[in-house]
Amino acid sequence: MRRLRASAGLRGLVRETELRASQLVLGLFVAEPHARGGRERLEIDSMPGVARLSVAAAVAEAHEAAALGLGAVMLFGIPDEKDEDGSGAWDDEGAVQLAVRAIKQAVPELLVITDVCLCEYTSHGHCGVLRDDGRGAPVLDNDASVELLARTAVSHARAGADLVAPSDMMDGRVGAIREELDAEGFADVPILAYSAKFASAFYGPFRDAADSAPAFGDRRSYQMDPANGREAVREALLDVQEGADMLMVKPALAYGDLIRAVKEATGMPVAAYNVSGEYAMVKDAAAAGHIDERATVLEILTSLRRAGADTIITYHAKDAARWLAETS
Ligand code: PBG
Repeated sequence: MRRLRASAGLRGLVRETELRASQLVLGLFVAEPHARGGRERLEIDSMPGVARLSVAAAVAEAHEAAALGLGAVMLFGIPDEKDEDGSGAWDDEGAVQLAVRAIKQAVPELLVITDVCLCEYTSHGHCGVLRDDGRGAPVLDNDASVELLARTAVSHARAGADLVAPSDMMDGRVGAIREELDAEGFADVPILAYSAKFASAFYGPFRDAADSAPAFGDRRSYQMDPANGREAVREALLDVQEGADMLMVKPALAYGDLIRAVKEATGMPVAAYNVSGEYAMVKDAAAAGHIDERATVLEILTSLRRAGADTIITYHAKDAARWLAETS
């Protein structure tokens, strides 16, 4: 086996997996003024190098993303006001909507994906609306949530989003969003469904970044059990039936088997979300001098491609694109 490993040329000749900047999506947090302390950029402690951004700062990031050849940016919003229903999510003048419009105007060639969820907008931090079923703790009202999520997706499409990505994990939301987008004249806007999204400890830094930790309980009644793989495939197949155009597996590092399984079962384009905790682990270990950041990131991203991901959402996207340009 070693004959074909003897030189960079030979290794390049037989390399099975390719990683390109155009396959990478950069996650960005766009915040209303108070949520960023009145500043243009408010650094997020648990995610070194990532910040809550003003609309203008998000446009600057978008310019950089386009110059580096990234595939897209994905926007998350952090509002100043939250309420029970998360009504800020479908506010046409919300931070995400304003940022989408500004980015599409300034950098029209760059794809903009929006995360569709209520958790950043609800006072209780859950991904949908609550209902009292008279049996104790409030429960998440699936169908009422789906309606609000569809309204949110339409608001993003109206602002100019190129793709919408529901991350809430309510049942039936992909079908409802498809129907609503079609009815409102956005039949061409694809849905990137967070199909297999697990109730994961790896989202810790994100909840800090987006101020979206649930005020009570956890997300295990809607996000998936990390022990379940066959169920992830069922989720993916349902999303295909409901009209999803791309599927996502999230988190990424501990879920390579499911990236592969979803890819094989559906033949659909699959995105892997290299989440905040995965980013923070690499950053912290590199800062401590325990690992080489560049080599580790490129190894991780390549391995996700090898597992079957067509697209990777990662906070390392800009650095990775720079490193790829240097090595090629
Ligand atoms: C919103 C959402 C979350 C993430 C993406 N969209 C948080 C969650 O479900 O708690 C996590 C992303 C990351 O950790 O990088 N529902």
